[in-house]
Amino acid sequence: MDAKASIGVFDSGYGGLTVFDKIQQVVPSYNYIYLGDNARAPYGSRSFELVYRFTLQAVERLFDEGCRLVILACNTASAKALRSIQQKDLPRIDPERRVLGVIRPTVEVLDGLSRSKHVGVLGTNGTISSGSYAMEIQHLFPQIQVTGEACPMWVPLVENGEAASPGADYFIRQHIERIFARDPLIDTLVLGCTHYPLLIPKIRRYLPEGVRLFPQGDRVAESLADYLRRHPEMDSRLGKDGRHRILTTESAEKFSRTASLFFPWTGRVEQITLA
Ligand code: DGL
Repeated sequence: MDAKASIGVFDSGYGGLTVFDKIQQVVPSYNYIYLGDNARAPYGSRSFELVYRFTLQAVERLFDEGCRLVILACNTASAKALRSIQQKDLPRIDPERRVLGVIRPTVEVLDGLSRSKHVGVLGTNGTISSGSYAMEIQHLFPQIQVTGEACPMWVPLVENGEAASPGADYFIRQHIERIFARDPLIDTLVLGCTHYPLLIPKIRRYLPEGVRLFPQGDRVAESLADYLRRHPEMDSRLGKDGRHRILTTESAEKFSRTASLFFPWTGRVEQITLA
């Protein structure tokens, strides 16, 4: 048995770094491997089949690199691939390994956050059209009314380093106005995409007063800490030397440059191929 197993953190690109950052603050002692499939990002406009195939390849690679637990720090992958991987692939690959997503932990706290019981979810086309948030919320809190808004331009803005540019305002304002026109009673707005925290300063500019913006990083990190406490059989197999690796399918040099927007990382970045 590998006593030094790592926790894998996967995202289609840079966005998962916003979650990884919080995870490292909340549970810092573990060994982590972050994998960004930057060469094939964004996933948000891709079909179910492709997101599933790419995500499975990434999970298998993280397992090969010594991970026993993988967090899909990507809403699109959580929405489109998590269930199939958990139900179909894990039993075949290794029933003792685990893959967890970001949607369930986010949804679990919404009833406590919303007073009006009107919640908005911003996400990629893939996440919103999958209906995953609406289904999870309906299942746990049928009293909550959910409005989803796909913001297909937001991830490309972030991936291309345009999050703070004047051009970004147009697309941000458009979707914020649209979701509040559809339900003016929304008091809690979920950033259902790990890239969106980079856009918070601009989103706030167009947000109606009193609306709570809910990015997922802290919640996902707390949920992981809770999972590790409740699963000593997993926890005992995980290495706790605080070692981190970052893998990307894009150029390592390009990743290092852009990653600094998300995350204070000075270590080496390794380029890999997934297939
Ligand atoms: N960061 C991902 C998410 O949370 C999606 C980005 C993409 O479209 O690749 O949904």
